[in-house]
Amino acid sequence: MIEPPAIPGHIAIIMDGNGRWAKKRNRPRSMGHQAGVKALRTSIGHCLQLGVGTLTVFAFSSENWSRPASEISRLMDLFLRALDKETGELHQNGICLRFVGDKSAFKSNLQKKMSRAEALTADNTSMVVNIAVNYGGRWDITQAARRLAVAIAEGQLSPDDIDEQQFARYLALANSPDPDLFIRTGGEMRISNFLLWQSAYAEFYFTPTLWPDFDSDVLDLAIAAFRSRERRFGRTGDQVRGNLSA
Ligand code: IPE
Ligand code: IPE
Ligand code: MG
Repeated sequence: MIEPPAIPGHIAIIMDGNGRWAKKRNRPRSMGHQAGVKALRTSIGHCLQLGVGTLTVFAFSSENWSRPASEISRLMDLFLRALDKETGELHQNGICLRFVGDKSAFKSNLQKKMSRAEALTADNTSMVVNIAVNYGGRWDITQAARRLAVAIAEGQLSPDDIDEQQFARYLALANSPDPDLFIRTGGEMRISNFLLWQSAYAEFYFTPTLWPDFDSDVLDLAIAAFRSRERRFGRTGDQVRGNLSA
């Protein structure tokens, strides 16, 4: 019997439920987002302790621009403040921060802070934290296709060179392995346009826990569920368990 790896190498999380968490407390939605930053801090710390190689979190989707302008502007303020407050400690802990998504839609001061945080932490090797901002799985696949088309038009590639590996090199998470464990908090059982290509063989874990209440214990439960799964990648259970004669 092949033991599954004790700890998933790459965990992806849709951090959902901030608004409902605040509503339950009769507080504005922005309070829920603020509480969500703390939950992210805890999760990064726990993943670091466990030896998770990569953590990718969904902070703002390409569809979230449809929210009320006041909520969007509070979220942008929160991103700015969180970057100022947290980058130093993340750097001290050896974390390599990357922002994935169409950053060109953000104001220039936010873009600058993201680039600075990426540059500061670029050589860190303890853990990679990808923060998906203005990210959408369809945007990702489309921008990869566009860049591939440019490479072909410029004669750097031929259409025959395009296979899955080549295509994946143009995706936003080209430098990260595919996620092993895909968690969504907040009770919704949908992908909401997160890592469409990359999660082809991820193990999904849905929890009703609202994101601000997410902590090390819930993360441990998700990892325990992951460990109980048999990942077959198209093979039979017998093949995976080494009973090749069966
Ligand atoms: C997730 O929480 C955070 C973002 C999408 C930015 P929500 O704000 O979606 O919270 P709910 O789903 O309304 O409770
Ligand atoms: C997904 O949550 C995006 C993030 C957590 C950033 P949403 O709350 O936007 O998803 P839907 O709209 O309920 O599918
Ligand atoms: Mg939501």
